[in-house]
Amino acid sequence: MTLMNFKSFRTVFTIAASSVILISGCGSDEKVPETKNDTQKKDTVSETAETKSSPGKDFFYMKSSSNNIACADCHGDGTNSDRPLTKYFSDIKGADKRKSTFLGKISGEEVKKTAGGATLCWEAYMKMKTPMTPEQIELLNGYYASLGTGDTQSDITYETIALPQKDKAKLKTEQAEILKLTGDPLKGEVLFKDACVTCHGENASVKKVPSILEDFEGNTKSITYNVRFGDGAMPFFKLNLLSNQDIADLSAHILKINGK
Ligand code: HEC
Ligand code: HEC
Repeated sequence: MTLMNFKSFRTVFTIAASSVILISGCGSDEKVPETKNDTQKKDTVSETAETKSSPGKDFFYMKSSSNNIACADCHGDGTNSDRPLTKYFSDIKGADKRKSTFLGKISGEEVKKTAGGATLCWEAYMKMKTPMTPEQIELLNGYYASLGTGDTQSDITYETIALPQKDKAKLKTEQAEILKLTGDPLKGEVLFKDACVTCHGENASVKKVPSILEDFEGNTKSITYNVRFGDGAMPFFKLNLLSNQDIADLSAHILKINGK
């Protein structure tokens, strides 16, 4: 065990050193040798990919200069599951190899050109004012590839009423259904800590987010709207990961805190 750790540490060190030399060159190519000569067990390889720093990884963990959120706050790369939002959004492993992303909104050649659709996130969720550069797109594609593909290579499908377009009729049905449910504020509090606090918490590090814990003007219907469709920098939440009962519970918690 100790020997293995030492070995992977040494690999990390060697890669880090060679990255410095290659840093101004092609960001993605430098990742190939790391696994090529590696005869160790598979999980040692991914351990190496996980612990080493690279320009692509740094970019993935970089906070937006606009609202202070990072790709890594929302998406998993296999090492950041302690960030609560990563369980609600897709893993990025193999994202450069998918045939389509965003449930078919982006497909074919566009997948690579948009870093698997990350350019949409860059503008919508990170509120970046200048488009992602081709170099940054390449860094991301290289980072995805460095994580290996596994069986996540194929397209990811999920259930949402926000894509490919906002389905307003379905939203109305959901709102009516949720209004009929009895929300449990205690369960809602737990869910809120998991899915919302990163942005809406009192001490949240993400900036430019309205407080909904005091003077909230909304109601169950507007909470449902935000959760299901997203709004500006707020992402939508999938049907299977936050159920209608979950939204009823969240709503009960938010309204209770606001004295409603
Ligand atoms: C506030 C959360 C958030 C941030 C920050 C964010 N994204 Fe996303 N991203 C989403 C949501 C929501 C989707 C669409 C639903 C899903 O895939 O989970 C998405 C989709 C994607 C997809 C396509 C997944 C698929 O196959 O459908 C990729 C790849 C991706 N994002 C990468 C990135 C990268 C790289 C960054 C940083 C530059 C980033 N995202 C920043 C929320 C975010
Ligand atoms: C990635 C950050 C982020 C996460 C996570 C997030 N929100 Fe938001 N939320 C925002 C932002 C930003 C806005 C403001 C949107 C706008 O007006 O452009 C917002 C707005 C709202 C609003 C409307 C506020 C108002 O005054 O009208 C509600 C309600 C809301 N969010 C509920 C939630 C709930 C419930 C969750 C958890 C399930 C959640 N949000 C998760 C960022 C987030």
